[in-house]
Amino acid sequence: MSAVVIDGKASAARLREKIAARTAELKSVHGIVPGLATVLVGNDPASEVYVRNKRKTAEAIGFKSVHVELPATVSQDELLAQVKALGADPTVHGILVQLPLPGHLDEAAVLDALDPAKDVDALTPTNAGLLMSGRAHLVSCTPVGVMLLLKEYVGDIAGKEALVIGRSLLFGKPAAQLLLAANATVTMAHSRSRDLPGLARRADILVAAIGKPEFVKGDWIKSGAVVIDVGINRVNAGEGKTRLVGDVDYEGAKKVAGAITPVPGGVGAMTIVCLMHNTLIAACAQNRLPLPSAL
Ligand code: GUN
Repeated sequence: MSAVVIDGKASAARLREKIAARTAELKSVHGIVPGLATVLVGNDPASEVYVRNKRKTAEAIGFKSVHVELPATVSQDELLAQVKALGADPTVHGILVQLPLPGHLDEAAVLDALDPAKDVDALTPTNAGLLMSGRAHLVSCTPVGVMLLLKEYVGDIAGKEALVIGRSLLFGKPAAQLLLAANATVTMAHSRSRDLPGLARRADILVAAIGKPEFVKGDWIKSGAVVIDVGINRVNAGEGKTRLVGDVDYEGAKKVAGAITPVPGGVGAMTIVCLMHNTLIAACAQNRLPLPSAL
């Protein structure tokens, strides 16, 4: 048996078309252009690539893109002032502060300065709390992307055993909330969990977000399970080259799973498009218009 390969690229392209169409309508009917601000501090090469791709996608969809680039030495006060200025700018509907920030900056204080209505990464305590209450408009992008893929490839997940490995604010915690809201039986595992292989073998849906290359082995996977790999790890491929791998041993897992996301071309493809969707939601909410729904 070989698993169905979940085509995140194709799903992302379809959602992107929907967003572009709604954006064109917003502009022609209401004269509103969704605005996304990206804030990049320092010059971490991976962060530079992520932010560049986000800006390019925003522009291609028809959004206004505002970019603030600050040196790694920027003071906490200066960064807070920039985030607050974007919060006060009515042409900016979404603000993304690329993480991680350089070590001398207080990440929590920066998030506290973000207007929750513009928090398109859903990292503020307000949006995290609204998600837990089942009342969130803005939900972290990658977990939404995962739920869209599950909806498309699995359908109803009520009663299924879901295991989320990883408990980050950006992914693991919101992903568990969304799975729970969809009536899955959710287990959260992490680096201190005992017997991860045993927990994994029970999972109908296994979601790996631990940031360790090929950590989850093929013989941890229950036969027919759906494997969602959120990891993006760059590893040495010999001859001075590198390649991207996920948190799951893809070849091993593919022999056992019912369906699996590849890396690249799986979950990652959905993340940026979901960020655009959040920006569209934020623009509609700030103008008291009906909210588009992706889920
Ligand atoms: N760093 C890595 N991924 C992300 C993301 O999705 N949002 C932000 N703000 N920072 C990140």
